Amino acid sequence: MNIRKVVIPVAGWGTRSLPASKNIPKEMLPIYNKPVIQYVVEEAMHSGVTDVVFVTNREKSVIEDHFDYNLQLESVLERAGKMELLGKVREVAEMVNVMAVRQKKQLGLGHAVLCAENAVGDEPFVVMVGDDLIINDVPGVQQLVDVARAGKKPVIGVMEVPPHKVDKYGIIAGKECGDGVYEITDMVEKPAVDKAPSNLAIIGRYVLTPDIFRHLREIKPGHGGEIQLTDALASLAKERGMLAVKLKGERFDAGDWVDYLTANLYFALKEEQLQPKLLARVRKMLVDYPSGRGE
Ligand code: G1P
Repeated sequence: MNIRKVVIPVAGWGTRSLPASKNIPKEMLPIYNKPVIQYVVEEAMHSGVTDVVFVTNREKSVIEDHFDYNLQLESVLERAGKMELLGKVREVAEMVNVMAVRQKKQLGLGHAVLCAENAVGDEPFVVMVGDDLIINDVPGVQQLVDVARAGKKPVIGVMEVPPHKVDKYGIIAGKECGDGVYEITDMVEKPAVDKAPSNLAIIGRYVLTPDIFRHLREIKPGHGGEIQLTDALASLAKERGMLAVKLKGERFDAGDWVDYLTANLYFALKEEQLQPKLLARVRKMLVDYPSGRGE
């Protein structure tokens, strides 16, 4: 299975990130020194993907621009002799080929993926939800691609979540058929805790085959009146089988403030020059707030 393309839906309003996302796409909010979307695209690139299809709306062209050259900025940096920064800025433009398709009506994640049908064509492809960051030596998408190649079936990424969070995710039912790999028997979008078939939640990573588009066209609106990707996946799984793989790594949901802020610390602390000063400030805060309430 040779996979070149990734579809990344980015047309959502980002209400969880307001007011920060009022005039900036939520995908462009920075985590330390890079926008959220750059981490996602880097994961795709490090997994061998070369072409990115953004599913956008009229407010989001700045996302495409981020992965393009900015000749004016580059010449300013060059004249100022800021070669390291120049390299970083150029590097982003050279990561991947970029295409954009419009989601003209916001009818759900499944609908967003369907909007990319012509851009994807008749080949297997990846879908990534732009809020989810997976940090691991073997990138998240690569973990799925490895299982898809071996199992010759579509694969989705899952992680265990606590019971009070199952209603925030698509939840799968499956039989474990290998180490952390499941044969999916069913899946349901955002079930109530007493109706959830497991605590294995779909984390925004999917390796799909183009027959998903037929299912996306045929399904009726589901949870929240939206065309749900999960419903089309459940239908495809019944027809041809589908695997889930428990993703390894650290996950940050950039739309959740605690995760977002933790991710900022996580990446900034990896920077040698920042680490001592930042740790000193964090340690002082821990003394000032000794008894925070947990979840
Ligand atoms: C979407 C999917 C859901 C999945 C989640 C992962 O939901 O519909 O199945 O678990 O992404 O982030 P959303 O978060 O867009 O409501």
